[in-house]
Amino acid sequence: MTTERTYIDLSSRTAIVTGGGNGIGRGIAIRLARAGADVYVADLDVDAAKSVSDELRVSGGRSSAGYVDVADQSSTDQMVASAIDELGKVDILVNNAGVGGAEGWAERQEGSIEDWNKVFEVNVLGIVHASKSVSGHMIERGSGKIVNVASAAGRRGSPGFAHYSTSKASAINVTQAFAYQLAPHKINVNSVCPGLLWTDLWHDIADRRLRMTGDGETSGRDYFEQRLSNVPLGREQTPEDIGNAVAFLCSDRASSITGQALNVDGGAMMN
Ligand SMILES: NC(=O)c1ccc[n+]([C@@H]2O[C@H](COP(=O)([O-])OP(=O)(O)OC[C@H]3O[C@@H](n4cnc5c(N)ncnc54)[C@H](O)[C@@H]3O)[C@@H](O)[C@H]2O)c1
Repeated sequence: MTTERTYIDLSSRTAIVTGGGNGIGRGIAIRLARAGADVYVADLDVDAAKSVSDELRVSGGRSSAGYVDVADQSSTDQMVASAIDELGKVDILVNNAGVGGAEGWAERQEGSIEDWNKVFEVNVLGIVHASKSVSGHMIERGSGKIVNVASAAGRRGSPGFAHYSTSKASAINVTQAFAYQLAPHKINVNSVCPGLLWTDLWHDIADRRLRMTGDGETSGRDYFEQRLSNVPLGREQTPEDIGNAVAFLCSDRASSITGQALNVDGGAMMN
């Protein structure tokens, strides 16, 4: 019988997941560990990162955790050094950490200049910093996989949320540039574009929408479900759905795939 591990086998691989303490990042960390990878969970919220890492160790995996602010190059350098120190090497980097804007963004109808700067610092430069921190190590080893978590919002501009959707379009574009640059070193760089997941980020998006429309009758969850009505498969995504796509892209099954952006959104985007 073909087991899951024989189809997507990441045993003897070591992965870093940024923003791995919560939501989608946590789901990715769990999925990679289930495929056999050792996982370094890195997050601004270090307590959450440690708790996910504890969970992975309890299930029998090797894991470690630490603080990172992906907006800061020295912090991502430190993250990679700690992962190598504690787990021996890095084969996989998942750039998942992301934000909707600067502090208080959910209370603003339009992105402020601080929101534009913040999403570029975290959602775009966060990918650049962590990729730069790890690429020397991967080049020396002659292999590696980098997966960036972009968004369906990066496929089409979002009204009132332009700062965020523009940052995610940039995440798709920087994925392509790095895929070209790192291809000679056998490093694959891809992105995934999640659709709708009911995580903390979406709770804030829904709260913001309710504030904007002033509709006290509808709950945030109702608004989220209305958005699902435009999705061909009519289902929300789960962190596990995103983890499955990431695990595939990090596996030998995806060796010929680079520079791609894989929509994991129930068919919401078909480009
Ligand atoms: N939830 C969705 O529907 C959805 C859809 C498409 C894309 N995404 C993207 O998926 C990724 C994860 O989103 P989520 O929904 O799980 O959000 P979330 O808010 O639940 O989790 C984000 C995590 O990133 C961490 N983080 C934030 N800034 C950081 C920084 N500077 N350095 C390190 N860690 C940082 C947070 O502490 C948190 O643990 C983000 O890139 C987001 O843009 C989410």
